[in-house]
Amino acid sequence: MTDKLIIFDTTLRDGEQSPGASMTRDEKLRIARQLERLRVDVIEAGFAASSNGDFEAVKTIAEAIKDSTICSLSRANDRDISRAAEALKGANSGRIHTFIATSPLHMEKKLRMTPDQVFEQAKQSVRFARNLVGDVEFSPEDGYRSDMDFLCRILEAVIAEGASTINVPDTVGYAVPELYGEFIRTLRERIPNSDKAIWSVHCHNDLGMAVANSLAGVKIGGARQVECTINGLGERAGNCSLEEVVMAVKTRRDYFGLDVGIDTSHIVAASRMVSQTTGFVVQPNKAVVGANAFAHASGIHQDGVLKARDTYEIMRAEDVGWTTNKIVLGKLSGRNAFKQRLQDLGVSLDSETEINSAFAKFKELADRKSEIFDEDILALVSDESVTSEKEQFGFVSMSQHSETGERPHAAVVFTVGGKEVRTESDGNGPVDASLKAIEAHVQSGAEMVLYSVNAISGSTESQGEVTVRLQNSGRVVNGVGSDPDIVVASAKAYLSALNKLQSTTDRVAAQG
Ligand code: KIV
Ligand code: ZN
Repeated sequence: MTDKLIIFDTTLRDGEQSPGASMTRDEKLRIARQLERLRVDVIEAGFAASSNGDFEAVKTIAEAIKDSTICSLSRANDRDISRAAEALKGANSGRIHTFIATSPLHMEKKLRMTPDQVFEQAKQSVRFARNLVGDVEFSPEDGYRSDMDFLCRILEAVIAEGASTINVPDTVGYAVPELYGEFIRTLRERIPNSDKAIWSVHCHNDLGMAVANSLAGVKIGGARQVECTINGLGERAGNCSLEEVVMAVKTRRDYFGLDVGIDTSHIVAASRMVSQTTGFVVQPNKAVVGANAFAHASGIHQDGVLKARDTYEIMRAEDVGWTTNKIVLGKLSGRNAFKQRLQDLGVSLDSETEINSAFAKFKELADRKSEIFDEDILALVSDESVTSEKEQFGFVSMSQHSETGERPHAAVVFTVGGKEVRTESDGNGPVDASLKAIEAHVQSGAEMVLYSVNAISGSTESQGEVTVRLQNSGRVVNGVGSDPDIVVASAKAYLSALNKLQSTTDRVAAQG
């Protein structure tokens, strides 16, 4: 019998901690559904005690998702743990993931606690959590920089209290593969009751080694759970990337000898969904999900692949969900064909109203763009005006004028709480004029810290996908908008970011 590697996805918790990546409850639910389709074993849906918004997100996901275990992060205290248990009540299978820092630096400078106090708190918290749920995971934060003797003592104690998963985070991305693998192996060898728990790895990517470190934790250390995120999303340089770790274990099954339950054909759709929701664009040369990951530009490679695919390809593009830029639908396509295509793409909209709204947008797009690709459909359903009627700001229409030698001018019509307003402004360029027109009315005072445009399906006929990152009073949010007209896409992205600024509530950070 081969071992199974448990895939624990933390896109909605650790991934969301990335500045600007905060997601609404509905966005999180949509991503959770995609993770369930991927057959992720454990979905860390959030940090229930950090804000009411996160509590609601964990609760909604716990009630809606039935095939994956749903987990909430929680600091090691009774209040956080009770909140997590409350949010997980509706889950088929729920897990509390509790953590406390164990490195000398974190205990002394951040927690201002002695090792003995940390030891007692960890033990008591796991005991408290085990009385509320049957599945408890414990993480010693900054575990990799902790003292080995202390770590052995605390981990032995929490396993004795009933923690069934022990996760060893490399919180600051300091590890190197061989040493991290040996670190996990030493812990497992030295802790007498280590066989009572599943060992898990959680690596950050500060030195670009999160995937390599996680795989070493599995191969050398014997870990059987990997914590990861779609596209490697996460604070600073991010977390271990799910698609890379999964495809490494699948492609090199000869070496790892492990099974993973992931349905890899949904990987690309998950990657696009996370990128479009958060505005974090995937670099073209990113392994597995980058636009160039399966592109062969050199003549020698093209020739080789045409003769025998495996000359230059170690994975099949279709196995991870890449379809070639197929024309899938046109302006004559009906609602049923559209619904079927959504289903084939693994997209499920929640209600008939959402399907109708998406179909209306599809028709609008098909009138302006003769060829509609899968990418266009995925962008269209990520557009928040399809999935949410309750946003404060909504795009209606716009016009703009620009001519060489003249200052561009734009007029934008948008809704504020359901009421239409029309505003105008000049600007350095048409995009600048449009966003200034919106800002003239909204007066958010937000600072724009990023503006980027990406062509969704490659050519100038393609839709433009715009990301706008705004910062206000210490909060950072990303808005994404798509349209064949990049000025319109920019206005939509700006309004989407303003909506997020409105809805983001202050939350407690999991680290720091
Ligand atoms: O990186 C880390 O240490 C974490 C813990 C909270 C598990 O994300
Ligand atoms: Zn982390």
